[in-house]
Amino acid sequence: LAKAEVELASIPEGKNVTIKWRGKPVFIRHRTQDEITEANTVNVQELRDPQQDAERVKKPEWLVMLGVCTHLGCVPIGEAGDYGGWYCPCHGSHYDISGRIRKGPAPLNLEIPEYNFQEDKLIIG
Ligand code: FES
Repeated sequence: LAKAEVELASIPEGKNVTIKWRGKPVFIRHRTQDEITEANTVNVQELRDPQQDAERVKKPEWLVMLGVCTHLGCVPIGEAGDYGGWYCPCHGSHYDISGRIRKGPAPLNLEIPEYNFQEDKLIIG
């Protein structure tokens, strides 16, 4: 099965990169310390799909997730929406800086693919 490799050094802190993996977009964000703090100060009991940030990342500074809205599959836009994360323009779903659904019709958080870190690379798949 195809894997995708990304050089971590190619993604500066505070930036998003989108790659293609198995025909789907994968969003990779190099999160800032402020973003990590924000992701961890949410009361997850109030979320539609309750997940701690720590359940969604292997390293806090790297958020890796499928760029497929869990409503009807559009590709959300980065650095957009009311929660500092992603916004799906198709029907108005807002995702936070952990990729968790916060507002709009999507039922679930953005999905996390299989991935691992190997030295200075991120291996997806
Ligand atoms: Fe994203 Fe409907 S597909 S809000």
